[in-house]
Amino acid sequence: MNVCVIGTGYVGLIATAVFADWGNNVVGVDIDKEKIDMIKQGKMPIYEPGLAEVVEKNVKEGRLTFTTNIGDGIRDAEIVFICVGTPQDDTGAADLSYVWGAAEEIGKNLNGYKIIVTKSTVPVGTNEKVAMIVKDNLKKDIPFDVASNPEFLKEGSSVEDMRHPDRTILGSNSQKAIDTLKQLYAHLNTPVVECNLRTAEMIKYASNAFLATKISFINEIAQICERAGADVSVVADGMGLDKRIGRAFLYPSIGYGGSCFPKDVAALYRTSTDQAYDFKLLRGVMEVNERQKEYYLDNIVGELGKNLDGKVIACLGLSFKANTDDVRKSVALTVIQRLRGLGAALRVYDPKGTDNSKDHLGDANIYYASDSYDAVEGADALCILTEWKEFQELDFGKVKELMKGNYVFDGRNLLDINTIQDLGFTYFAIGRPTNGTKKISSKFTRSVLLS
Ligand code: UDX
Repeated sequence: MNVCVIGTGYVGLIATAVFADWGNNVVGVDIDKEKIDMIKQGKMPIYEPGLAEVVEKNVKEGRLTFTTNIGDGIRDAEIVFICVGTPQDDTGAADLSYVWGAAEEIGKNLNGYKIIVTKSTVPVGTNEKVAMIVKDNLKKDIPFDVASNPEFLKEGSSVEDMRHPDRTILGSNSQKAIDTLKQLYAHLNTPVVECNLRTAEMIKYASNAFLATKISFINEIAQICERAGADVSVVADGMGLDKRIGRAFLYPSIGYGGSCFPKDVAALYRTSTDQAYDFKLLRGVMEVNERQKEYYLDNIVGELGKNLDGKVIACLGLSFKANTDDVRKSVALTVIQRLRGLGAALRVYDPKGTDNSKDHLGDANIYYASDSYDAVEGADALCILTEWKEFQELDFGKVKELMKGNYVFDGRNLLDINTIQDLGFTYFAIGRPTNGTKKISSKFTRSVLLS
């Protein structure tokens, strides 16, 4: 099939590569000339395992091209995917200006019947407006259909996620559009949910909000475990064995971040209030997520004091999760900024996210280390902020020798309690009984009992 993908961000670029790899002729379009030039030279604008190889292979085999000209991009396409960004605006709602812009350009350049499909995460009702904008910009009366086909890929495993999705959601008011899209995905043999536009749009938000709810739920359980002397990791294992619950997304942390969950949860909450409904549970999910990093910082301040002047803190992890260089809405960066605000000198390291972090953090009071061992040298405390596997595999005997102090604040429950404590570290984890957390738990319990 001939396919055009508008937008070459995470969703768009991966979609171009995977659609082409399935044997389709694909044109990727982006208004950012620098980005398109870069991709044409085989350089990926994002780090994503396996992506560069799939793009290179399909470009070489002639199925995948890139352009900045939307007219050229859509000319031969049967299906046009809108994969542009939908960032959060000042009110918490999704900023849809890129979606409207793409719809306008598609309308102006439409040269025959096409199916216009939104893959970006967009609030309920967006695709109906896309149809209106396309129609308003047509130069002559050309038929087209609109569909919603949300993408569920995760950064860090996006190529594999798109190749092997759990389900395909096809929302449209046109059976012809749904049948054509079914052909595109036919070889996958995954369940297809056929529905109307609004239902498809809602499925994506409901899914992301539910996953965020799981994270906030386990973060709350972790708080109770910490105080009650239970181990949240084992609690999550035990819960996860129930097939109705599942083990995924029950990893406590310093809170969820990234370019999707914070904005999508806020946007769904905004949709609920727009519909005169207060989605209480979601409000709680967001509050818990904010509070989680405060607890983490409280532990550090509780041990090192509120004035961190003269303290050196090593931070391992900058990206919002492992296996990505993406630092958008990364809680790690927020924690680092807060520690810097309290006067700490920071030594930071991330396997992939350092360059992107420099734009956000600058250089003041921050040393960008060349590796983890370089980061921990002379540090009073070590903070683990992202769950990169290589942090788990460090020689902590060597880390102990290199550090000045002995505090480890593990924001991802990455390390083995016994190994770390046997080496003489004071270890703080999230919701696990360690020599560090016990102290905080008792302090908290005391203050609650006294209040
Ligand atoms: C998410 C959705 O998973 C994906 O389906 C959607 O298409 C886009 O948004 P992504 O943002 O790439 O994907 O990352 P994800 O793996 O979901 O993690 C989001 C955040 O939650 C990260 O900060 C991660 O560290 C955190 N997280 C995840 C936890 O704190 N605990 C968990 O158990 C899982």
